[in-house]
Amino acid sequence: MLKAGLSMFDRFNRHIHYLRISVTDRCNLACTYCMPEGHVAKLPREDILSFEQIAELTRTAVELGFDKVRLTGGEPLMRKGIVDLVRMLAAAGGINDFAMTTNGILLAQHAKPLREAGLHRLNISCDTLDPQRFSAISRGGRLEDLLSGIDAAQAAGFVKIKLNCVIEQSPEEPDAVMVSRFGAQRGFEVRYIRRMDTAKGSFWRVLGGDGGHCQICNRLRVSSDGRIFPCLFSDLHTKVSELGPRQAILAALAIKPESGRQSDNQFYRLGG
Ligand code: 5AD
Ligand code: SF4
Repeated sequence: MLKAGLSMFDRFNRHIHYLRISVTDRCNLACTYCMPEGHVAKLPREDILSFEQIAELTRTAVELGFDKVRLTGGEPLMRKGIVDLVRMLAAAGGINDFAMTTNGILLAQHAKPLREAGLHRLNISCDTLDPQRFSAISRGGRLEDLLSGIDAAQAAGFVKIKLNCVIEQSPEEPDAVMVSRFGAQRGFEVRYIRRMDTAKGSFWRVLGGDGGHCQICNRLRVSSDGRIFPCLFSDLHTKVSELGPRQAILAALAIKPESGRQSDNQFYRLGG
């Protein structure tokens, strides 16, 4: 594919080239740090971007110089036809790093098709290796599903698999230590993400990753209903439905704040 060789910089001279796309706000788990208790209002189905709209937005981003794309959720594997979407985006070309963040529960069935469809990398959430603790944290999830999912991801040929481990305070907590040992055994990098709160404005740098570090932030986030958020910790956003893909991306870039403060954003709406 012909690439224009454009590079987008924001007002603070940060090179913005990473698009994180939430493909659904639905999830098959309800982790305590992510979902509020009880009934959670879901975005109306008619507001959710179609595959064609996501593909057009991604193509536009690539034309503008984006070269890294991550699909998030909710849980991205809950989006019907997700493998087809991955195939469409991969086939369009121009993405050098094409990844997904998943809770792993449905990976046993999806890992191989995702790999074949052209996905490059997976980040899999893994907060503990104790079945009871896993069930408590995820409000009913089964650790064995996650473990089969991880096995399937490796068997499908995914390399550089990363585990996302949410911690309360420190990587020395018992759950995190289990994940660290497991990662070392299996050759997975572990990223420790201290529990954040968008409403309170509490966020930290991701240990072992780039997240939460405002000075080097390189991303825009797209919600599943087509709003583009330049920062997880700000309510500022643009709408693809109002501006069209190109202007929505450019306008989001133009209002990207120097650093996060606090916001009404929910992790299950805008990805981790
Ligand atoms: N704090 C930090 N990370 C979170 N995630 C979800 N909720 C939170 C939170 N409150 C991230 C985790 C998880 C991914 C899906 O979203 O990294 O693995
Ligand atoms: Fe679902 Fe991930 Fe949120 Fe857990 S953290 S409820 S798996 S979106």
